[in-house]
Amino acid sequence: MRIYREKDYEAMSLRAAQVMAAEIIHRPNCVLGLATGSTPIGMYKRLIELNKEGKLSFKEVRTVNLDEYKGLSPEHDQGYRYFMQKQLFDHVDILPENTRVPDGLASDPDGECTGYDAYIRSLGGIDLQLLGVGHNGHIGFNEPGDVFVKPTHVVDLTERTIDANARFFATRDDVPKQAFTMGIGPIMAAKKILLIASGEEKAEAVYNTVCGPINPHCPGSILQLHSDVVLVADEAALSKVIAAGVVK
Ligand code: GLP
Repeated sequence: MRIYREKDYEAMSLRAAQVMAAEIIHRPNCVLGLATGSTPIGMYKRLIELNKEGKLSFKEVRTVNLDEYKGLSPEHDQGYRYFMQKQLFDHVDILPENTRVPDGLASDPDGECTGYDAYIRSLGGIDLQLLGVGHNGHIGFNEPGDVFVKPTHVVDLTERTIDANARFFATRDDVPKQAFTMGIGPIMAAKKILLIASGEEKAEAVYNTVCGPINPHCPGSILQLHSDVVLVADEAALSKVIAAGVVK
């Protein structure tokens, strides 16, 4: 795992944008696995700037998102399709038909999951997968548990995740209790992985992901088995990894 230690959120966002832009420049029709949450917003802003300056084109890029709340429509302002439109897609030259987010309203949830994996396979897999990390070490919405679940699936969100995401909803009760998430299979099959993290509250999750035992109680720990992971994080998020002497 290559680790980039950045001073703060802005520096982390710039470095992460450089990694993603490099992939797009190298392979204009690449397949990007994209993530939501507050962490990638600064990175997406940088990519939008590059696109507006004419330095980066998304015209041939295909994207698949990691996850979506079950029960939220694409127009719901806390849904991940809406997030992607507002934070990236509406501002760059990507073709709408080249973007895919799980359908939170799918009438056949199992079919949505198998169809999602089939779609990723039809694209030839993911070239670069962007990941944030939850406080409990989740990636996408792969929550801690007794096994790593490989295919795309519907997951029951943990109380900790519901608490963490309640800040975006009017009340905690409004947070959906389930979500669709890409499984560990397509994530680990991605050719490259870009993991990003910011802030002291992620320090433990980052430490467990990078240095902890590889087990499904910290889903991110499986990334230690991937041969091409770049972790871009600020010093606060890396504090425990730095204290352990793993990164200077
Ligand atoms: C959600 C998303 C994850 C994301 C995580 C961290 O649970 N499903 O993909 O990585 O939140 O979010 P944040 O970046 O806001 O800390």
